[in-house]
Amino acid sequence: MNGIGASPPRPDGFAKVSGAARYLDDLSLPGMWHGATLRSPHAHARIRSIAWDAALAPDGAVCVTVGDLPGPNGVQLIDDGWPILAGAFTHHVGEPVALVAAPTRLAAQQALQAFTVTYEPLDAVLSLEAAEALPPLYQLGMDSGDVDAALARADLVVEGEYRTGHQEHIYIECNGMIASYAEDGALTVLGSMQCPYYVQKALTHALGLADEQVRVRATTVGGGFGGKEDFPSAIALHAALLARACGRPVKLVYDRHEDIVCTSKRHPTLVRHRTGVTRDGRLAALDIEILMDGGAYTTLSSVVLSRALLHSFGPYRCADVRIRARALRTHTAPNSAFRGFGAPQVEFAIERQMDRIAHRLGLDPLEIRLRNAVAPGDRLPTGQILDAGTSALPCLEEVARRTRFRERRQELEAARARRAAEGDEDQNGAEPRRGIGLSLYFHGAGFTGNGERMMKSPVTARLLPDGRIEVLTAMTDMGQGCSAVFPQIAAAAGGLLPEDVTFAEPDTAEVPDSGPTVASRTTMIVGGLIARVTAALRDRVLEGLPGHTVRDGWIESPAGRVERFRDAARRLRAEHGPVELTLRHEPPAWQTFDETTYRGAAYPTYAWGADVVEVEVDPDTLAVRPLQVTAVCEVGRAIHPTLCAGQIEGGTLQALGWALLEEMKLEDGRYLNDRLATYVIPTILDSPRIDVHLLESHRDGGGPFGGPFGAKGVGELPMDGGAPAVAQAIENATGIGVPAIPATPERLLAWQRAGQTPGGVR
Ligand code: MOS
Repeated sequence: MNGIGASPPRPDGFAKVSGAARYLDDLSLPGMWHGATLRSPHAHARIRSIAWDAALAPDGAVCVTVGDLPGPNGVQLIDDGWPILAGAFTHHVGEPVALVAAPTRLAAQQALQAFTVTYEPLDAVLSLEAAEALPPLYQLGMDSGDVDAALARADLVVEGEYRTGHQEHIYIECNGMIASYAEDGALTVLGSMQCPYYVQKALTHALGLADEQVRVRATTVGGGFGGKEDFPSAIALHAALLARACGRPVKLVYDRHEDIVCTSKRHPTLVRHRTGVTRDGRLAALDIEILMDGGAYTTLSSVVLSRALLHSFGPYRCADVRIRARALRTHTAPNSAFRGFGAPQVEFAIERQMDRIAHRLGLDPLEIRLRNAVAPGDRLPTGQILDAGTSALPCLEEVARRTRFRERRQELEAARARRAAEGDEDQNGAEPRRGIGLSLYFHGAGFTGNGERMMKSPVTARLLPDGRIEVLTAMTDMGQGCSAVFPQIAAAAGGLLPEDVTFAEPDTAEVPDSGPTVASRTTMIVGGLIARVTAALRDRVLEGLPGHTVRDGWIESPAGRVERFRDAARRLRAEHGPVELTLRHEPPAWQTFDETTYRGAAYPTYAWGADVVEVEVDPDTLAVRPLQVTAVCEVGRAIHPTLCAGQIEGGTLQALGWALLEEMKLEDGRYLNDRLATYVIPTILDSPRIDVHLLESHRDGGGPFGGPFGAKGVGELPMDGGAPAVAQAIENATGIGVPAIPATPERLLAWQRAGQTPGGVR
């Protein structure tokens, strides 16, 4: 079975589990050398001099410093403010200062010893507090209604400050690239990436090459999570500069330590809330300030901040809203894209604030959400009127029903009261304390605002000589499964069999720029285009056959099967030569957004979710163990339910890691836990049971937002719900307030001592 809603085996699965898949570091080109990078040991310093003593380097080794750049010293993303190599100053530990290439990886490492760099250390800005007083990298605001008047009218004003920390992607495959020049000066780059055309653009910009002279091919990608959205452009440039310097192909691959030291992380964030509520717990005013730690350079922070602003009010109704958002400059590696792209941080904050409000009013966490959750026809603070697939309430009701949330919470309360009465609470070796927590969340799919409209992504379909349809997109399967989902969409839209359709590899010399593999846009936006372009090419084959359709790979007339689609397509191809169609994504006309006022429909639609998490907390050590998660997500239509649920399981576990275990410790701007031995992510042993229940809101036409068969983007959604649910569960178990994550035992103890309670500081 391969239809929509079936879960066929993924085409890339066998190669990946058997070890046959070739990742970048498995590849070698004839005569290839290896690169290495000299990095700044200082968070902030003036670079007085860089000297290279060839006598100290292995034979033939070549070096590249900032003076060797052929063009602008900037990695082109939104702008080119991110240096390829540090110039007169270095702005973070691990910033690339110079590059070397040598015949072997070991020789390249040895060659780094041939450099002598003189630094003059300068003061570094290393906290959000210190950065707050300085000019931001970027800022945004949005106003709806009159917040000050609404706050003045409110029965109660609740304040809260919530923090989240760095998170490292820990994709299984570290960043890596191979660059090689042909005799005619054309450059080819192979590597692990999400966005081949971003890499191509960075290469043409910095190296002064034309598009036709730069070919970028994505190899098998071992995970991305946003960490291969912008960084591959930098490492591709480094590999290309080295290939140019030594006249050979050069491979540049990071080991885990180097990858953690120098690549981007999730933005640490501080969100300040001041919320006016009515006595019965309805939101009357939201005053929100968002501070994100952008690190040393803007990279993608402006768009991360934008998505953060647009998710900071949560899935709740409130007319009077003021949001001020700033990305601040600190002396750490640039923080950038990470699954959720700013939304998980701000949704943690609004969910914590809702819990605090509920606590003050004596409402339970379910009740406060039921009273405020948006429903179809409601307006978001941006003015967007929500569509019929707005599923906050169905998700909330379903997760509460499946977990018996209220009853379970009362049982745990009763057990706690009983233990307290028996004096067990204060004993060493007392029983673990159980707690339950709930969260509600949403995620807008596709580029924010007018991004998709400006990009107008194309997808191409063409007939192959054998009569199959070949679909060409620039999307990479980094593990999320588009190589399984795309053929399902194409076959279903065209009435074809899976074997009638094939997909080209993401290679800028072959495929059109259908945009980056980011922003939960692959299935919904590009998948929608694949459905349209496949159907259009099928119709081209059916031209001159009025009343005919294609089903299960056969052309049918009203009288029955006529011939195989492939036979007719092969004939057309033979008679006419190349038959090819390109269609571009066009957002629905009603989706308009004002980028200056932040008013309008920022996303064509939203996916929705509600989580319930049960945890156990050791009363002696305050170590938290998540036991069970129930996630109810409304995804429009699950094209491939197994992969869809897999996305939700993985994203939920990633959220639990961020909430409980993952803590980047910084000292003088250096990450202290810069290895997998010390940067701890959840293993299978740390994973609770995760039950995923998919709700679908699709109507057969596919909904008003253009997702194929009604599918919404789902890749990032599950990252938004786990952390606030876990924080609430810890509060429920311990009575200790959790205003920040990760909620490590050390921090829980500190909060307990500081009098943090679920209602705020006592
Ligand atoms: Mo991303 S965080 O790959 O949009």
